[in-house]
Amino acid sequence: MGLIAGEGACDNAACMQIKPKPQPIVILISGGGSNMAAIVRAAQKEAWAAQFGAQVVAVISNKPDAGGLRLAREQGIATEVLSHSAYASRTDFDQALATAIARYDQPTRPTLVVLAGFMRILTPGFVAQHAGRLLNIHPSLLPAFTGLHTHQRAIDAGCKYAGATVHQVSAELDAGAILEQSALPVLPGDTEQMLAARILATEHIIYPRAIRNWLATQVRV
Ligand code: GRF
Repeated sequence: MGLIAGEGACDNAACMQIKPKPQPIVILISGGGSNMAAIVRAAQKEAWAAQFGAQVVAVISNKPDAGGLRLAREQGIATEVLSHSAYASRTDFDQALATAIARYDQPTRPTLVVLAGFMRILTPGFVAQHAGRLLNIHPSLLPAFTGLHTHQRAIDAGCKYAGATVHQVSAELDAGAILEQSALPVLPGDTEQMLAARILATEHIIYPRAIRNWLATQVRV
């Protein structure tokens, strides 16, 4: 897909095969890591390495006990823990995080940073440094219900539909450009847990899709 350049300029199609530039992906987590696992699965199943040069090179957690760390290690992915409580300020933590991520940058392509249940608000400085290559998933139909407790708030508001949103991260919380959304009905008798579980299943579909689409736009650059 999109890897054959200058069709017609060469008789032998194989000689025109262009290897995509390496595109590192670092996933940031704080918890169970089911979105991270879905992304890793999609990367393998859809051969993101061959198609886009893309590889999940590391999973970084701000919590030492995040369940997703074990899942990542089982997949042979490098893991790091950067505990936010070990830093004096939000800025200090974000600088350490940026330094950790930058180690995975390639000369031709900086790292794509994927927030997958990463429960930290990032400083404007960090966001600016990673602008355009910093994605997040939020469990609501943005712009409705930014912030926390999205499922209960959707139920309490009497919403007929709820869902999830993949978006670019901007300095304002949960307000960056929308890339993908899933929507499903809120059912009579839904509890926060029931609704969250159904929405989470859709997150596992839309997050890999949004990343794949982002990679596809980059590979042509
Ligand atoms: C997801 O619902 C995500 O939208 C929210 O936190 C949850 C993380 O789940 N930000 P997991 O760690 O990916 O399983």
